[in-house]
Amino acid sequence: MKIGVIGGTGFYSIEGGKIEIETDYGKVETIHFKKYGRDIFFISRHGKNHEFPAHRVRYHANIMAMKNIGVEAIIGVSTVGSMKKSIKPGSIFVPDDFIDFTGRQSTFFNDVTVHIDMTIPFCPVIRKLLVEKARKYVEVNEGIYVATNGPRLETKAEIRMFSKFGDVVGMTLVPEAILAREQGICYASLCVVSNYAAGMQERLSIDEIKRVYQKLKPYVDKIVDEAIRDIPDNRDCNCKNAAEEGRL
Ligand code: HPA
Repeated sequence: MKIGVIGGTGFYSIEGGKIEIETDYGKVETIHFKKYGRDIFFISRHGKNHEFPAHRVRYHANIMAMKNIGVEAIIGVSTVGSMKKSIKPGSIFVPDDFIDFTGRQSTFFNDVTVHIDMTIPFCPVIRKLLVEKARKYVEVNEGIYVATNGPRLETKAEIRMFSKFGDVVGMTLVPEAILAREQGICYASLCVVSNYAAGMQERLSIDEIKRVYQKLKPYVDKIVDEAIRDIPDNRDCNCKNAAEEGRL
């Protein structure tokens, strides 16, 4: 089985062989390595030098590259801000739903009508694995991810509003999760809670976000590694059929 990992801020490189994949949306650099007899393809979401900020990440190219190389399951790693006191910086969050405030172009289907069912937006099998693995090492919460466009952080008033709707806020889950689903790829997200959102702590700094991420990175590596090992070969979730079932 081929498995994709899309890493976010603080996750720029990994050991392996470089493979460039052509897509209709541009060329994508992936790092390929073997683990537990599986082929793993890593993409740095923000580029090697963080040259693609959240609103300019090549979401379509990244997912199409994974599709073209035959990846069937993706783990997306990212950082988020917490909007709930009980969800602490330094913990892990595995979203089970999201609300999109990005306004981004979030489909591959512009010339045919596909109303993809998002009742269960993430692969339930991989999501469960991530929660189980993460619980061995750190505190884990599940819930709603509010997606913003960025690249700026939110205002206090925005967080007050968003906190009525969801639990954490981040900039990269959308459209990544939607596009993977459209391509029939199982997708689940592993988030490092790097800070309390605006207004819930004195000030926010990117240094702090990076520092918390770096502290958790050894656990993130283990969680991803164990999930890669245990993702089942036969996919009995419905992820691969979602787009076809949504075709008008
Ligand atoms: N807001 C949006 N995205 C984020 C945050 C935040 O507070 N922290 C890490 N990514």
